[in-house]
Amino acid sequence: MNANTIAVVGLSWGDEGKGKITDYLSQKADIVVRYQGGNNAGHTVVSNGIKYKFKLIPSGAPLEKEVVIGNGCVVDPKVLLKEIENLTKLNKKVNLKLSSTAHVIFPFHRVLDGLQEKSKGDYKAGTTKRGIGPTYSDKAARWGIRVFDLTNPELLEIKLKKQYEIKSKLIKLYDPKWVSDFNEVYSEYLDYGQRLKGYVTDTAYYLNKQINNRKKVIFEGAQGTLLGIDHGMYPFGTSSNANSLGIPSGSGVPSKKINKVLGVIKAYTSRVGEGPVVTELHDKTGDQIREQGHEYGTVTGRPRRVGWLDLFNIAYSVMINGVDNIAITLLDALEGIDPLKICIGYEMEGEKLESWPIQSEFLEKCEPIYQVFEGWEKRDRKDWRQIALQGYNSLPKTMKNYIEFISKELKVRNSIISIGPDREETIVLDKNLF
Ligand code: GDP
Ligand code: IMO
Ligand code: MG
Repeated sequence: MNANTIAVVGLSWGDEGKGKITDYLSQKADIVVRYQGGNNAGHTVVSNGIKYKFKLIPSGAPLEKEVVIGNGCVVDPKVLLKEIENLTKLNKKVNLKLSSTAHVIFPFHRVLDGLQEKSKGDYKAGTTKRGIGPTYSDKAARWGIRVFDLTNPELLEIKLKKQYEIKSKLIKLYDPKWVSDFNEVYSEYLDYGQRLKGYVTDTAYYLNKQINNRKKVIFEGAQGTLLGIDHGMYPFGTSSNANSLGIPSGSGVPSKKINKVLGVIKAYTSRVGEGPVVTELHDKTGDQIREQGHEYGTVTGRPRRVGWLDLFNIAYSVMINGVDNIAITLLDALEGIDPLKICIGYEMEGEKLESWPIQSEFLEKCEPIYQVFEGWEKRDRKDWRQIALQGYNSLPKTMKNYIEFISKELKVRNSIISIGPDREETIVLDKNLF
């Protein structure tokens, strides 16, 4: 049965192509929701020859769908206003609803992000330095400033003054010379609040009502399951539940209203930031994959670490998310590489492991167990596009073997195959997905 509500989540370390898949499914959607993360995300959508790189705005925006930024997100208002402006310049109507209870990122959060990373030494995650961790820390400590406060000058003044008192003491522990002018930041944020006011809504009420009215809703995950705060590779991840478990708390929509979970898998592994990656490649093949997949961070431009596909950690992600269906992306980027390898398990100190060891201290000691696959030839973009138009049967046989092995190993249904960044370079195997 076609789902009315679907989650699109990353099953690895982010950048799996969630933006592309969300855009594709948006063709049938009414509403697209972000429920966690902030502008640490970089979601690329290629639509009618235009490349969009969304940080906060959900990927339904090019198709002018209703887009919702839920309470579980952290919002840098300057970045959000810039994204609205960019879309408006392209003559796109921005149908945005912004949760009044999402937390706001301030300049001191970004400063703290950088300073804390420096102090963490070997435990640094290599953050995007967008202030994500410090903003979620304030939320958990219950002195954060929310979107509602931003739109209310008196509340903003009281709460921001308090924050200045606290943060100047804290930041000066790291950097005694730190200065920041309260009045400047207050008036800047007051202005943001006034400009965003028209979008602010109680999004939990809104979403539940729309779902009850049979509207079709996509929940677009940011980052990936292995970066999640509770079930990811702590401390080398981000500060939110970057998986389907984050949807109820981050949007106010209960889990029983989420009909399907679509896990997005890249045909190989990529990782921006620190922490052990068991299948990482440090050789020419790794360089070739990086170049062919254009693996440079959407947000920070950093070269991404790359490696073979790891089905041992993805099987863990399938369990955590309750994945029903998968989308496999960037298969074209493996062209011309032969043989290919897929990791199907780990060995630690000579013992084969039963389950993925979430502790980074164990992961550092793990060796991958690989299965080897025949690769497929290089083609130009025009040919990949033609193959996508012709459908699944026209894919190279070796690619079909690779794809079918993945779904068999994970025991999930293969629903979408992506062989290029454009919306058209997509093959849907399951017409009843959404
Ligand atoms: P997200 O964060 O999960 O949305 O992924 P990103 O947008 O950060 O990174 C994925 C990159 O791969 C983007 O540059 C996409 O345009 C691109 N992409 C997505 N799917 C495909 C695909 O099937 N083939 C190729 N070649 N590129 C793809
Ligand atoms: P999308 O949504 C890839 C990584 C950072 C760092 C760690 C913590 O595009 O998939 P943070 O700034 O969140 O405190 O950084 O998480 N990271 C991502 N890696 N894609 C992302 O988002 C990421 N967002 C954060 O590199 O290791
Ligand atoms: Mg990304």
